[in-house]
Parts: sequence; structure tokens; C-alpha cells
Amino acid sequence: KKQIKLGIAGLGTVGCGLLAVLEKNGDLIANRSGCEFTIGAVTARDRQRKREVDISAYHWCDNPVDMADPDKVDVVVELIGGSDGPALALARAALGKGLSFVTANKAMIAHHGAELASLAERTGASLRFEAAVAGGIPIVKTIKEGLAANRIDRMHGILNGTGNYILTMMEETGESFENALAKAQALGYAEADPSFDIDGVDTAHKIAILTSLAFGTPPTMNDLPIEGIRNISDIDIAYAKDLGFRIKLLGISRLTKEGKLDQRVHASMVEASEALAKVSGASNAIEAHGDFVGPCMIEGLGAGAGPTASAVMADLIELARGNTGSTFSLPASKLAPLPLLESGERTGEF
Ligand code: HSE
Repeated sequence: KKQIKLGIAGLGTVGCGLLAVLEKNGDLIANRSGCEFTIGAVTARDRQRKREVDISAYHWCDNPVDMADPDKVDVVVELIGGSDGPALALARAALGKGLSFVTANKAMIAHHGAELASLAERTGASLRFEAAVAGGIPIVKTIKEGLAANRIDRMHGILNGTGNYILTMMEETGESFENALAKAQALGYAEADPSFDIDGVDTAHKIAILTSLAFGTPPTMNDLPIEGIRNISDIDIAYAKDLGFRIKLLGISRLTKEGKLDQRVHASMVEASEALAKVSGASNAIEAHGDFVGPCMIEGLGAGAGPTASAVMADLIELARGNTGSTFSLPASKLAPLPLLESGERTGEF
């Protein structure tokens, strides 16, 4: 059987989740992909940290960039996070050498996705990021492939598991914001810097990526107003409930009639009877409207080791099956910016 040597950079929640998937479902994955995945090298910030998986047998790199070595690995899996720094250095090094690159890093794809896609095209490498948006939900594949025949004019959804977990806990158990956040962190849902979750930045990264996939733009965070849930109190939640609504943090992206792009992130009142209002805990859900498919909603766990590792592994299996393209829906040279709706033009329309 053909072997694919993985270089895994980052051994936190998702990195260890990936090793667990390979360990538990290795046979099934080998059957479905026609390849055996082995570990060529690993790297993380702290080698000694206590982990649920034993990494002592794997080749260790002190510096993530050293992993971009075709003699050591066939594919680099980046689970370090952060839009710049070591993750970006590794992405540039790996793709520059023609090594395919699988990442869960939404911040990096939102900020540097177009540059990395053109680098990948130049060297013939594959850049894949299913895990970057909505954890285990195959939303990237759905927009890029399942809905490829449609002109999509709007998408909106819950794209942050931590934020949705906090809002659900506050509403259903009366938990305080702080306690709910601490629990989300303990469950491995939150970002290293949880302000990205609660201030809406993580949702903004993800909506910018979905915008790119659906509307063919380079991902952009420009003119994307972001408001998180930090100031939502138990009184807001109680009043919303009395009125028949639930408060949800939404990422929204739509094209106006004039062809302008309206991307935004804010807490919204969602009618309690709507499917989106019933999405609870660390789940995410996205609804996309296509001109032929109509509304199409997809829901599932958006954060945590298992769901995110499931999406990373799906990319690796696609690679093994010979699908070596990029996850973007267009070649990098064809990604074209759209005029952006300016703040004065916003009506709050969905
Ligand atoms: N911190 C993110 C969330 C992880 O809570 O949704 C998945 O991207």
C-alpha cells in the first residue's frame, strides 16, 4: 500500500485529536484512501507537555519550518494557529517546496489565503482547509462542490462553537458568562486567545472564507464590522426569551442588489421557532441560499478535538485519493475582489 508521511505541526486539542483518529480508524482510513498514513515528523511548542497520546516515538522538529522537508514528510498538517508567525512561515516553506498543506487555521486563510493559494498553484502543491470553517461540518466542500452549480446570494450562520456554547449555557442553565467560558475552554472549544471567540473575530475569519468560496473573492477582512457577545447579559437573554427569540452570534455574508459585498458579524435575535435558534452547545449551522438549490442548511459540531480532526482527516483522505487541487473554488488568479458595502450603506438586511 502507498504510504503518506504526515508532518504534524501543533499537538494541542486538534493535533492530538488527529492522532486519535489515525489510531482508532486507521484500517478504515487505509481502505477508503488506498494509502497508509504514517507520522514523518511532529512539532509543538512544548515537547514535554502531558498529552493523552504518546509522541515519544515520532521524529521531533524543534522548529516548525524544519518540517517543510520532502525527505521527512509528504504532507504538512498545520494545527498551530495564528494568522502569522510560525504557522505562516511553515505554510510558505511547505507550499514553496511543493509539499501539500492541510490546515485548520481560519485566521491564516482569512488573511493570507489568496497568497498561499497562488504559491500552491505555482509549485503544484495542494492547499486544503476544510477544518478551518465550522469544525466537523463539511461546509467548505458543500459550498465548493455540492452547490457549485448555484449563484449563491447570501449565507448566514453560527460559526463559533465557544460563543454558542456560552449563550446556550446562559440561557438553559442560567450559568454566568465567565463560568460558561471556562467550561468551553476546559472542553477544548476555545481559541488559545478566547477573546477571538467572544469578540466575534473567529466568526469573522470563517465568514470571510465562506465569502471567498461562494462569491469568488479573495478572503478579506476589510470593511467587515465585528461585534461579539461580551456584553450580552442574562437580562438580554431573558428578555429575548420572553419575546420568543434566542440570541445567536451570526456571521452574515450577502450580495446586495447592486452587487456589493456585505459581510458582518453580530449578535442577532433569532425567532425561537427557527432551526437556527435550536442550534445549541458547541454546534454550528450555516444556511446558504442558491438560485437553484434554494435555502440549504447544514449543522453539526463546530469545535473540539473530534469534529475538527474529522475535517482535517477528510482533507488528507481526499489528497490520498488523488484530489490534489486547492480548497478555493477558483484558481487564485481568478479570485476577484467585489465592491464592499460601506458602513453608511448598511440597512441590517439579511
Ligand atoms: N474556537 C473555535 C470555536 C474552534 O469555538 O468555534 C473552531 O474553529
